[in-house]
Amino acid sequence: MKVVVTAGPTREFLDPVRFLSNPSTGKMGFAVAAEAASRGHEVVLVAGPVSLSTPKGVRRVDVVSARDMLRETRRAAKGADVLVATAAVADWRPATCAKRKLKKAGMKPFIRLVRNPDVLKTVRCPLKVGFAAETGDPVVEAVRKCREKKLAFVVANDVTASGAGFGVDTNRAAFVFADGRAERLPLMSKRTLARRIVVAAERFMATF
Ligand code: PMT
Repeated sequence: MKVVVTAGPTREFLDPVRFLSNPSTGKMGFAVAAEAASRGHEVVLVAGPVSLSTPKGVRRVDVVSARDMLRETRRAAKGADVLVATAAVADWRPATCAKRKLKKAGMKPFIRLVRNPDVLKTVRCPLKVGFAAETGDPVVEAVRKCREKKLAFVVANDVTASGAGFGVDTNRAAFVFADGRAERLPLMSKRTLARRIVVAAERFMATF
């Protein structure tokens, strides 16, 4: 299969020294890319700003903002079979980005935001797998995301659960399907979860 993986955070700059972002480290997405490559798939990894080394056999494209991620993911997905979106893409960006550092004294105490594009929803690919980062039970929201974004399945994780979510080497997730079915998985390493995801995608592709 040709697999495209998005990973890491995006940064949405307000001026050259300030941005909006989130705590994603890219560990989950890099594990998916590494696992897919080790199973013989051709992998392009579209990565936001992270400090991880590129897994063996993976082509990596570095991006900064959500709009960069959309452009590069769209390009990488041409002719691809599977898109796995693990990235924590900022939903909003400052309406303007100043060319020079904003002076504290002249700044207003609020930022006007505009919506960013939804990479996963926008990019076309025969098989799309999403993530859902929730606080609390992630399954209900994941069913909605699965239907709305027309996904094969969603990997739903509660990012406040211990050993799960941002930054850690483990995750606890559920595979959630559009018909409302959910397969809850135990705590496992991100690499093991990545294998479960890639194997599930292989099975889906085999039914096409
Ligand atoms: O990187 P780590 O430190 O290892 O952390 C892993 C993780 C917590 C980032 C990961 O497990 C995870 O939950 N990723 C999804 C984060 C997220 O933004 O979830 P969401 O529920 O807001 O988005 C739903 C889906 O749409 C995701 O597949 C997301 O990549 C995608 N999306 C969201 C918004 C947007 N503008 N574009 C998108 O493509």
